Amino acid sequence: MSGLLAGKRLLVTGVITDQSIAFSVARLAQENGATVVLTGFGRMSLVERIAKRLPEPAPVIELDVTDADQLASLADRVREHVDGLDGVVHSIGFAPASCLGGGFLDAPWEDVATALQVSTYSYKSLAVAALPLMSAGGAVVGLTFDATKAWPVYDWMGVAKAGLESASRYLALHLGSKGIRSNLVSAGPLRTMAAKSIPGFERFEDAWAERAPLGWVLTDQEPAARACLALLSDWFPATTGEIVHVDGGYHALGAAT
Ligand SMILES: NC(=O)c1ccc[n+]([C@@H]2O[C@H](COP(=O)([O-])OP(=O)(O)OC[C@H]3O[C@@H](n4cnc5c(N)ncnc54)[C@H](O)[C@@H]3O)[C@@H](O)[C@H]2O)c1
Repeated sequence: MSGLLAGKRLLVTGVITDQSIAFSVARLAQENGATVVLTGFGRMSLVERIAKRLPEPAPVIELDVTDADQLASLADRVREHVDGLDGVVHSIGFAPASCLGGGFLDAPWEDVATALQVSTYSYKSLAVAALPLMSAGGAVVGLTFDATKAWPVYDWMGVAKAGLESASRYLALHLGSKGIRSNLVSAGPLRTMAAKSIPGFERFEDAWAERAPLGWVLTDQEPAARACLALLSDWFPATTGEIVHVDGGYHALGAAT
């Protein structure tokens, strides 16, 4: 077996369509020598159908990151397919409609709590659930959208991402002694199902089209997926708590640029 991830066993969450960033991660990982186990949420038959489009059909395990029983049994259920994990990919985000699109001042706590549980706390929950299968050299990778700034329409999802970015640093702190790394890829806007649920998402699309120094293709998940693969590989052995921007360079610009 050859390739960047030769022999690596990965758990990849977040596939719902073949546009999902996680789908590109799973496809590229397989093409680069990894064995991939997917988790699916809710529409399991859809995820299973999409999983068959991978170069190698991948097993799909059910995981709702808000379900304590499913988290508690995750390691045993993954063990039915692989004897350990070298990497875990968190590609999960959700916020109720009230939390997005400009309603920042009105979103009720119950909805904000859901956004934070699914999009922020779950990064820790997933890592801890997978921990019994992991050992030194392992890596956890998640996806963020630059949370150092307030964006129009992103609202509570932006707050959830700021929390995710912090949670990744704390995970790096708490898992470092086990030799396990935690890093995030900060992606530019991509046309996925999650993105379509954000009213006004086209404002991001227009901004990136106009300003990203390298240009930006809204339908190309591969650059973000490649960065995930790199962070899962043995080529970032001393990097943890880091955020790698895959956004065409947008984050590097000042507001008046
Ligand atoms: N699309 C973008 O523009 C963009 C940019 C930067 C970061 N991201 C992030 O990338 C990640 C993947 O999103 P995507 O854009 O590929 O969209 P997507 O809709 O394809 O993936 C989101 C996934 O989250 C899963 N999910 C939602 N609630 C869940 C729960 N309770 N338990 C388990 N899974 C649950 C969905 O099933 C889905 O597979 C998210 O964290 C998202 O915020 C996306």
